[in-house]
Amino acid sequence: MPVCIRVPKTEGECVRIDLISKGILDTSRKIGSDGQFLLIPILAGSYGDYDMAEVDLEILEQTPADYKEVLDIPEDLRKDLPTSFDKIGDVAIIKIPGGLIPYRNNIGKALMSVNPSIRTVMNDSGVKGNLRIRELERVSGEGGPETVHREFGVKMITDPSKVYFNPRLATERARVASLVKDGEIIIDMFAGVAPFALVICKKAKPDRVYSIDMNPDAEGFVRRSIKLNHIDNITPITGDAADVIKGLPDADRIIMNLPQTADSFLCDALPKVRIGGAIHLYKISERSELAGFAEKITEDTASSGYGINISGISELKTYSPTMSVYVLDIVRER
Ligand SMILES: C[S@@+](CC[C@H](N)C(=O)[O-])C[C@H]1O[C@@H](n2cnc3c(N)ncnc32)[C@H](O)[C@@H]1O
Repeated sequence: MPVCIRVPKTEGECVRIDLISKGILDTSRKIGSDGQFLLIPILAGSYGDYDMAEVDLEILEQTPADYKEVLDIPEDLRKDLPTSFDKIGDVAIIKIPGGLIPYRNNIGKALMSVNPSIRTVMNDSGVKGNLRIRELERVSGEGGPETVHREFGVKMITDPSKVYFNPRLATERARVASLVKDGEIIIDMFAGVAPFALVICKKAKPDRVYSIDMNPDAEGFVRRSIKLNHIDNITPITGDAADVIKGLPDADRIIMNLPQTADSFLCDALPKVRIGGAIHLYKISERSELAGFAEKITEDTASSGYGINISGISELKTYSPTMSVYVLDIVRER
């Protein structure tokens, strides 16, 4: 019996795209439905916090959903083909290894031929600098990288060649939004084009979300998305979060999604979060070192006069063979 996840219909498209990009959507079966839920067949033991079910879903006639099946390249190079890609709006972003660069246009065309919703395919040669911007080259399709990405019914305008954006954090953004209580003041210190703020304002009723980013291109995209979604309680601010946060009101919740270095900004965030308030701290760590990291920040903050309780730690994704990206949910106790 195929294994599937039960996903609220409003989240279905976003989850489907994420499953495709991770290569774990079971395309041999039709997606089913059960009241307000979709039953999406997957090729994995679990996906996020979604409930699992075993349902006899209708078998689909096979079409080549995998671009590799329609791609014409020398057989000995097939093993190097990327197995996943990101889809941001109608832009596919793929990392093509050096040896396959002569075939980049063929790869782009193959990807588009099996994914009709892709307008253009961009090769990503890496994220660079503090602003985490990607170097992109169009390998197939038309137009530039600016696009409108949809996540849980929210439209996010972005250009991944100008501002960092991670479509794989959709489930995490929905999780944080589900924790927000009415009237909260929230600060997102490293907001990019404000996907956390946009999802939070759509799914919850905060009083205000301040979204800070030092990339001057981010604020313009946030302002356009605010208009597009008819949201009036996001304040985008350009600047260094360590300085900007000092001038903001105390917050019930602070989001720190800069997983390389966010912990070095804890000394700026802690004085701003109310006692009883929460910090979501994102961290890239060696798996074997995470427990030690959690102990260290608890001790360091205590020696600065603050008391914190780490109420939860979740692994979000693999970063390297030995490292993962984690989120630590921290409550300020004094
Ligand atoms: C990992 S991205 C987070 C993007 C966003 N949260 C998301 O989910 O797509 C980190 C962002 O932090 C910004 N950044 C880096 N250092 C900063 C600082 N000191 N103050 C404000 N923003 C900063 C970068 O420009 C980048 O957009």
